Amino acid sequence: MFPNRRMRRLRRRNIQPLLRETRIAKADLIAPIFVDESIDEPVPIGSMPGQYRHPVGGLAAHVQKLRDAGLRAVILFGIPAQKDDAASEAYAAGGVVQRAVRAIREAVPEMVVCTDLCACEYTEHGHCGIIGETCDGTDLLNDPSLDLMARIAVSQAESGADIVAPSCMLDGMVQAIRTALDAAGYADVLIMSYSTKFASALYGPFRDAADSGYSFGDRSTYQMSPANAREAFRESEIDAAEGADILMVKPAGLYLDVLAALRPLGLPVAAYQVSGEYAQIKAAAQRGWLDEHAVVMESLTCIKRAGADLIITYFAEDAARWLDEEQ
Ligand code: PBG
Ligand code: ZN
Repeated sequence: MFPNRRMRRLRRRNIQPLLRETRIAKADLIAPIFVDESIDEPVPIGSMPGQYRHPVGGLAAHVQKLRDAGLRAVILFGIPAQKDDAASEAYAAGGVVQRAVRAIREAVPEMVVCTDLCACEYTEHGHCGIIGETCDGTDLLNDPSLDLMARIAVSQAESGADIVAPSCMLDGMVQAIRTALDAAGYADVLIMSYSTKFASALYGPFRDAADSGYSFGDRSTYQMSPANAREAFRESEIDAAEGADILMVKPAGLYLDVLAALRPLGLPVAAYQVSGEYAQIKAAAQRGWLDEHAVVMESLTCIKRAGADLIITYFAEDAARWLDEEQ
């Protein structure tokens, strides 16, 4: 008898919606926001068409718009007016991110506010912590940077952040932050660790957007090699053991195998569709070479299918609109 398995029955037009295995919900999406202390009006980011640096004073309106689109969570990146080697603006009570969190809390109290927790936007050298001499020359110092991360975390929690998201890839960062948050009375603040973060060439547009490029070396002595899957697993496993509440793989689209491998750890997993993934789709769409709506929804669906519970994406607002249109 031929054929005894007709797979195409599953694809009859009216059957397809019943059998769809993966659906994106707006609650899965986290919208990144760049907040610049030195501007009064939104400034477009050249390498990320459709994305802006926002002034602190414009955040209430911007986040209300995201809320009205149905989004529930944002992640903040600060661009301070001053940088120094101690990254002091990263933990200042009046720092750009601290002010931004307060402004959003006040305007849209139900919005979940995540804060990127790193030093690279706040240091002149642009590395993700304290630098100094090591046996391999000048580099990011691990243990001396942990106190800094703990201090930034506590100041972000003080300003009202729900979730702090350390992105520095230091050993012991989650434990240092958890200990400091608990000691300061912030046991309820979550840690979403950038637990498996690759030294990717796809962060180029972000470094432009957040003014966080480095002045020497690269990040390959702290961020991971794209070639290593077992090491990628162990990075997240260790952060889980240190007390991370949510794990993360970054970038997303090229690392779906890694994302899928983290599910057995049992923690929620986020994926970060990064600036370079955004820019690639935008650039091709602007030339008319790709259908932006279709490619974006395909990319988000596949990231979710591979195992992401949450997706940080610059397409969050567009995707929310497209999800409404599908209904
Ligand atoms: C800072 C940070 C980076 C990104 C998020 N947090 C840049 C980097 O590590 O160089 C990248 C985000 C993106 O490319 O969209 N540690
Ligand atoms: Zn950094």
